[in-house]
Amino acid sequence: MDATILNLLRDPAGVPFYPVVFQGLYVLTWALHIAFVLLALGSMGLSIYGSTQQKSDSNWKLLTPHLIQTGKLSISILIVLGVAPLLFTQVIYDPNWYTTNALSGIWIFIFIYALIVGYLMYYWYYYANKAGRASNTLIGTISFAILVFCGVLMHNFAVESIQPDKWLAWYAPNGVVDTSGLNFHYDLIRLAFMVSLVIPVLGIFLQNYSDFLSTRKDFTSKYIEFTKKLGTKTAVGGLLVSAVLFILWMLQENMLLSVISLATIAGVVVLLLMAKMNKNSYITTVVLVVVALLISGVREIIRYNLMADHGYNIYTYTMNIDWPSTIMFLLTFLFLGVTGVAFILRMAWKVGKNEGTVFDGQNDKLTRVLGTATLWILVAWMGIYFAWGMFTLFKNTLV
Ligand code: HEM
Repeated sequence: MDATILNLLRDPAGVPFYPVVFQGLYVLTWALHIAFVLLALGSMGLSIYGSTQQKSDSNWKLLTPHLIQTGKLSISILIVLGVAPLLFTQVIYDPNWYTTNALSGIWIFIFIYALIVGYLMYYWYYYANKAGRASNTLIGTISFAILVFCGVLMHNFAVESIQPDKWLAWYAPNGVVDTSGLNFHYDLIRLAFMVSLVIPVLGIFLQNYSDFLSTRKDFTSKYIEFTKKLGTKTAVGGLLVSAVLFILWMLQENMLLSVISLATIAGVVVLLLMAKMNKNSYITTVVLVVVALLISGVREIIRYNLMADHGYNIYTYTMNIDWPSTIMFLLTFLFLGVTGVAFILRMAWKVGKNEGTVFDGQNDKLTRVLGTATLWILVAWMGIYFAWGMFTLFKNTLV
């Protein structure tokens, strides 16, 4: 394929900062996105099974609503965290993403509406389960299927965008232009690997859940043991399945002996041992985060190499350094991002550890300091953001 057209599709204004930084941010934010995708689908999937058991089993009666709640929150987080890699990919791989949107335009629309319907149905599932309705399992299953379908569509967009050599054939099969926007392509092994990750992520989450609740007196040791065992079984089984699928995927990509692939396999082995021993699930989670970053890195290396082989190298993207927006972005990320996330995490931790009474953030010094700091940083951020925007706007129109 001639890369001239790909390079012509690039933004003529260039990128506002070093492409490698956008690439790094893409890897980081996609890992975060997929972590919550996996947690959402895993907890929701298990909750559907739990909804069939909860009438006769007290453990499932307690666990099922907690899983539903976990999935409900994770979906909102995965949506927010999906925006970030979407923006970064559009900065450095804009020809790819926009071509995919043209080839599969209808699927893009369907994705948005499916996500809305799937998530709304999730709330229906949540309330039906709370009210003890018999229909809850069916509603949950339909919502689950719709959300999994969203993932399959996402996979379609991702794999389509990295096959520029096939774009023309897809756009005009046998020379006849197809503007239906219904192109749908998949890579079964890659998809199976992505989906399989749901199981170990859910398992390690359950280990965290059991460790977290073990300090609370209002949960019986029988229940803690039940969730711990369930978590260990799920994590170990899931890691084995994912490891096999990862090896198959790497064989298919001819990357099995690459450093990053070997590092990922080593990471999975360490995870497997840690999950099996289950001494401290929080440390296991730290290793899981490293493995998630490696997997995200593998995806990016596949794309980078494929595109570079076609003559499209992101590192040669025209650069037009825009210091004001770069500084604004980094300061926002650092100050508002770190403080805000620390505040939310602190709140969530304290609320979860609190027994009986309602947790009041005002009475906890660190929560109070973080909350106040977040508020003031946000106020300052809004002031600077709009003042800066107005200044730029009027500077450009009046001068
Ligand atoms: C229930 C909803 C969703 C599910 C299950 C889901 C699942 C996935 C999966 C499995 C992939 C990896 C595909 C692959 O590499 O083969 C992916 C990639 C991605 N997702 Fe999502 N996703 C969802 C919603 C979203 C939303 C709402 C956004 C944006 C706002 C988003 C943004 C992205 C981006 C940017 C990628 C990377 C695409 C690329 O590298 O070409 N996702 N998602």
